[in-house]
Amino acid sequence: MNTESKIRKILVIHGPNLNMLGRREPSLYGSATLEEIDSEIKETSHKLAMAAHTFQSNYEGEIVEKIQEALEGYDAVIINPAAYTHTSVAIRDALLMLDIPIIEVHLSNIYKREPFRHRSFVADVATARVAGFGKEGYLMAVEAVANMLRGKD
Ligand code: DQA
Repeated sequence: MNTESKIRKILVIHGPNLNMLGRREPSLYGSATLEEIDSEIKETSHKLAMAAHTFQSNYEGEIVEKIQEALEGYDAVIINPAAYTHTSVAIRDALLMLDIPIIEVHLSNIYKREPFRHRSFVADVATARVAGFGKEGYLMAVEAVANMLRGKD
């Protein structure tokens, strides 16, 4: 098998209310829809010899179950837990099971916002975080993952 050409698999998880992107507070989150963002994530991943599977849920338990699926066959997780960032021990615990790079993404700069958004249950579990770059943050995370995985087997 030629390991050089192995396609890496990334799981991209979007938390609650991110299905409303485009309509939801565009001054904060931008005008792109989640569908548009997901297609850019897939395109960028493809260019970097990776395959991105994208998933959105408004339900904490569904997000936990999706993270559990990453135990099998995924090389990295990119997650914007949205409001659950600030509340969810369950999502934190699920991420703690993973032994692959985890990138926490936020469209907005959560530190420029209300104090309750400054706390993240995911921050010290994640490998790295991107915040405040809007949808570009997801593409930066994809590129960072490609660099992290390069040369690994
Ligand atoms: C968010 C920031 C969270 O505080 C908020 O609840 C979201 C989106 C972001 O991407 O900036 O839903 O995660």
